[in-house]
Amino acid sequence: MNTRKPKLRSAAWFGTVDKNGFMYRSWMKNQGIPDHEFVGKPIIGICNTWSELTPCNAHFRKLAEHVKRGVFEAGGFPVEFPVFSNGESNLRPTAMFTRNLASMDVEESIRGNPVDAVVLLVGCDKTTPALLMGAASCDVPAIAVTGGPMLNGKHEGHDIGSGTVVWQLSEQVKAGKISMHEFMSAESGMSRSAGTCNTMGTASTMACMAEALGVTLPHNAAIPAVDARRYVLAHMSGMRIVEMALEDLRLSKLLTRAAFENAIRTNAAIGGSTNAAIHLKAIAGRIGVPLELDDWTRIGRGTPTIVDLQPSGRFLMEEFYYAGGLPAVLRRLGEANLLPHPDALTANGKTLWENVREAPIHNAEVIRPLDNPLVKDGALCVLRGNLAPNGAVLKPSAATQKLLRHRGPAVVFENFDDYKARIADPHLDVKPDSVLVMKNCGPKGYPGMAEVGNMGLPPKLLAQGVTDMVRVSDARMSGTAYGTVVLHVAPEARAGGPLAIVRDGDWIELDCEKGTLRVDISDEVIIARLDEWAAKQQPIAADRSGYRKLYVEHVLQADEGCDFDFLVGCRGSDVPSHSH
Ligand code: FES
Repeated sequence: MNTRKPKLRSAAWFGTVDKNGFMYRSWMKNQGIPDHEFVGKPIIGICNTWSELTPCNAHFRKLAEHVKRGVFEAGGFPVEFPVFSNGESNLRPTAMFTRNLASMDVEESIRGNPVDAVVLLVGCDKTTPALLMGAASCDVPAIAVTGGPMLNGKHEGHDIGSGTVVWQLSEQVKAGKISMHEFMSAESGMSRSAGTCNTMGTASTMACMAEALGVTLPHNAAIPAVDARRYVLAHMSGMRIVEMALEDLRLSKLLTRAAFENAIRTNAAIGGSTNAAIHLKAIAGRIGVPLELDDWTRIGRGTPTIVDLQPSGRFLMEEFYYAGGLPAVLRRLGEANLLPHPDALTANGKTLWENVREAPIHNAEVIRPLDNPLVKDGALCVLRGNLAPNGAVLKPSAATQKLLRHRGPAVVFENFDDYKARIADPHLDVKPDSVLVMKNCGPKGYPGMAEVGNMGLPPKLLAQGVTDMVRVSDARMSGTAYGTVVLHVAPEARAGGPLAIVRDGDWIELDCEKGTLRVDISDEVIIARLDEWAAKQQPIAADRSGYRKLYVEHVLQADEGCDFDFLVGCRGSDVPSHSH
């Protein structure tokens, strides 16, 4: 630890003997805090996404108490503050719609207040990227503490995974294999403790990404929410952030290009969510690190998926932790020279490799050896072609291998409402080799790029025993979902991408090996259809005011991270002082 005492940022508020210092200190004292408790000490902001409307983060006030104990023990002074909490399960139209709003809240809350460093309490899918984005734009010392996953779900004597079991059972209902009563009886057993989704969905993926990026303490990603060790980790993070404030260990020293490359490789090894491609790009953009969609192929390619978790595999986050958690995965990668930058610095002041090189591996079924992987190549597949000039992604580990190269006629839905209205129609002209295409579910089109890309299959085909079909859209997909699903098509239909002009019966060609996604029509026809499409476009009344106006006008496309154009970049923590 660096023992040189730096000038604390908070001294500009609490450290002056004048009228301003009087006022800043005096109002703090109305909480019953004596001078010696906070003046001259590192002030640690605890950025809390607690909300009873974000059930995954509903235990965060207790988590914050443990962070505070650690901060006090290390000689700092903790100040907890709320930020916008965008929970995945309740929020409409989709939690992604408010990810950038939350990041703005976080950024301005940090910059405007007398905090020297922050602890980011994150959990549910969008809270992790939102808080990292906001803190990165301020570039203050920061450490993330995740709320931890729920315990395994239980149903009829079996373990069931958050989200994944919903997709599985609802398809079985539609196929007539189980009754609605059986379906509904799984509801209480799926979510039976505090915490985030217990599959390798987006929340668990982003928790792993944060740990691989080095902005958490080791083991942060997997300790179950209700395991006492989660609270010990919160305590230790509170202690560590005080040191980080004194060391001036800012996010820009952790969130380097090397850290993002480590995270991309890690995502392949864990079979992580496609949403990571969007969120990592957005976080990188805030700290000035260049990251391209093709990096996911370039860096990830050839990395086996060794974590056997749902939705790609069998187990859940509880087993993942007991098997050794992310440090065990990173150790496996490092020993095979598959960790691109083992010397990347992490929040505890050690390198990533120092943290994991002796990590125990307790269960080789859950964290499999590299020579016996779940999927040989777990890299996200980045696709390009005349249907996705700026890219699209597919998660091979969640797909049916024989469909990764496929040619089929399009069955087109103009939007999600159109899909819902017609998918169950017994007269729908759809066959097992058809490609389901859905438009207008992208960042601007939905708006918010909802997780609807894993369109449920037509019930009449489910009843015939069809279990997967190629699906293409500009939407996202829940990290808990699965299927041969092409997502994030860019530019999206609403922005005039070629997806907008696909018609029923057009032949769609997918080739994951070559990384291509094409519609089999000529450039001339595409241009002519796009002209026709543009002439028909009408302004949408709901886009004319409110936050939705700001969103639709400024959101970037999926390949650019869906941040707002005016939020990209690091603006630092300087703030003009005002005189009372
Ligand atoms: Fe919050 Fe899944 S809904 S983590």
